[in-house]
Amino acid sequence: MSTKTSELPRRNKYDVDEILESEFSIEHLKRSGVYIRRHAKSLIAAFITSLISILAALAIPYLLMLITDEFIPAKDIRGIIITGLIGALLTVVIMVTSQIKGKICIKTGQTIVSEIRKDLFEHLQTLPFDYFDSRPHGKIMVRVVNYVNTIADFFANGIVNIVIELLSLVIIPFFMFATDVKLSVIILTGFIPFFVYIIFTKKAIRRRARIHSNKNSNINAYYQESINGMRITQSFSREDTNLQIAENMATDCKNSLINARYLQHTMSPLFKLVSALMTCLIYYFAIGGTSLLPVGVILAMATYCKRFWQPLINLGNLYNQIQDVAAYLERIFEILDTPSLIHDEEGAIKLPPITGNVEFCDVCFEYEEDCPILENVSFSVNAGQSIALVGPTGAGKTTIVNLLSRFYDIKSGKITVDGYNIHDVTLRSLRSQMGVMLQDTFIFAGTIMDNIKYGKLGATDEEAIAAAKTVCAHDFIISLPKGYDTVVSERGASLSAGQRQLISFARTLLSDPGILILDEATSAMDTRTELLVQKGLNNLLKGRTSFIIAHRLSTIKNCDRIMYIADKSILESGTHEELLKAHGAYYKLYTAQLD
Ligand SMILES: Nc1ncnc2c1ncn2[C@@H]1O[C@H](COP(=O)(O)OP(=O)(O)OP(=O)(O)O)[C@@H](O)[C@H]1O
Ligand SMILES: [Mg+2]
Repeated sequence: MSTKTSELPRRNKYDVDEILESEFSIEHLKRSGVYIRRHAKSLIAAFITSLISILAALAIPYLLMLITDEFIPAKDIRGIIITGLIGALLTVVIMVTSQIKGKICIKTGQTIVSEIRKDLFEHLQTLPFDYFDSRPHGKIMVRVVNYVNTIADFFANGIVNIVIELLSLVIIPFFMFATDVKLSVIILTGFIPFFVYIIFTKKAIRRRARIHSNKNSNINAYYQESINGMRITQSFSREDTNLQIAENMATDCKNSLINARYLQHTMSPLFKLVSALMTCLIYYFAIGGTSLLPVGVILAMATYCKRFWQPLINLGNLYNQIQDVAAYLERIFEILDTPSLIHDEEGAIKLPPITGNVEFCDVCFEYEEDCPILENVSFSVNAGQSIALVGPTGAGKTTIVNLLSRFYDIKSGKITVDGYNIHDVTLRSLRSQMGVMLQDTFIFAGTIMDNIKYGKLGATDEEAIAAAKTVCAHDFIISLPKGYDTVVSERGASLSAGQRQLISFARTLLSDPGILILDEATSAMDTRTELLVQKGLNNLLKGRTSFIIAHRLSTIKNCDRIMYIADKSILESGTHEELLKAHGAYYKLYTAQLD
């Protein structure tokens, strides 16, 4: 980290750099071979076209030498014309092959981008909630979007280029030695400064590349969070402070990039200088030697000298690129290597359509080792019953319903649905039969119709409208200027919280779940709206097992059973009337709310 960077005060959690492996690891490059192998044919085609192009380019100085040293002195007009035409033809070959190579590389690169993104996205969708809760989303985005681009460019162009440049380093000396041995040896001494440079700058280049990728990741994470939290920022008038933080991070990012590029950019001019010195040496030895060399040989050797250095410079640049790519691959594989804690067990069966009997037998659960959240929780629910979960904040109500959807695995005990242990059925068949509605309803960018249909793939407009009518969402939707075609933004900012909830009711009804879970789902509504949707809600609950979590007890009074969760277990259980009579914790809570 530069001195300037470390002097800046600590600003927020996004300013913490990710610590990954410290050394360059060839393992990541090897592992990425799986993507390269899939495109071996295209890469070989790109390689062959590049090879043709290089050979054609190298033949041109040789033709010039022939014209200058042989055909001009002999006044061989026919020879000059034929050689000139061959030169022109070779130029066309260079143009065409370069064009073809470019096309192949773009296509291969972009195909690799989509393959890596697909793998990343597929894996991300299987990761536990914890993964997303424990790291800034912006940092995940940077990996999936930016890093993948750089890597794919390297896979498509870089790998072909490395092979080509290495090959050039063999082919060019071949042409050089065919032209003049002594001058060729002089040119080859240029390898020495090249290796010295690489040895001395290797570590610093790698370190600076990593620092920059961290800073870039940090700023992305901060922007992402700031955009999501803009309302809170504005309501707390935090704009100036946040701007200062963003500015500091942008400065960090800029400085780290300048530091990284500065070192990388010393290579090209340095080697151009060496190349120029070598050319001078060629002229010196060619003219100052015992016998004056023919003009054509001198010109050809000067051209070869220049061309010989180009692959070295290119390889140096590619070396820098490999450093970046290795740093990025490390982060990408970190995602792919994160295990999906919850997955289908071997031999898991498909849960058949359920009626909705649920049983918890001695369920114990903890998020973190030795911090039990639930201990020996047992209850059974018959199909179609409505169960309310009440209790103090942090008691474990949400945890219970999350366990039912198997978002977390239990420590001991058993949870069954219609007699099937949820551990033994596929996640997809289990979760697709559960309708979960939360307090913060998620609305996707699109029309209201799209959002309702999200509940069931291939649903018709009529089905969606019928669902909206059942949950009493239809009236408010048709009162909007474009009705069901009204476009709502991501997270549904243009709708009220209650309206968002009504849409989510319709969406859930359309998915026709056997078990319904409402976690504070109606808490965003005012009492009048709640009364309005109560009828819709009753329609939604009809014939389904439902778990309703609510702090406002008036909404759950009519449930078949109320369970009071506290002290890691079910403290009380019974109907509203029974619990009131018992004069226990529920009674206290209920009477407190009446005040
Ligand atoms: N992902 C998690 N990792 C670690 N601990 C967690 C996690 N989620 C919840 N907890 C802890 O588990 C306990 C139960 O949380 P839960 O969300 O189930 O409470 P709740 O009864 O739904 O509360 P509320 O009424 O406030 O929604 C809490 O002490 C909480 O801190
Ligand atoms: Mg909760």
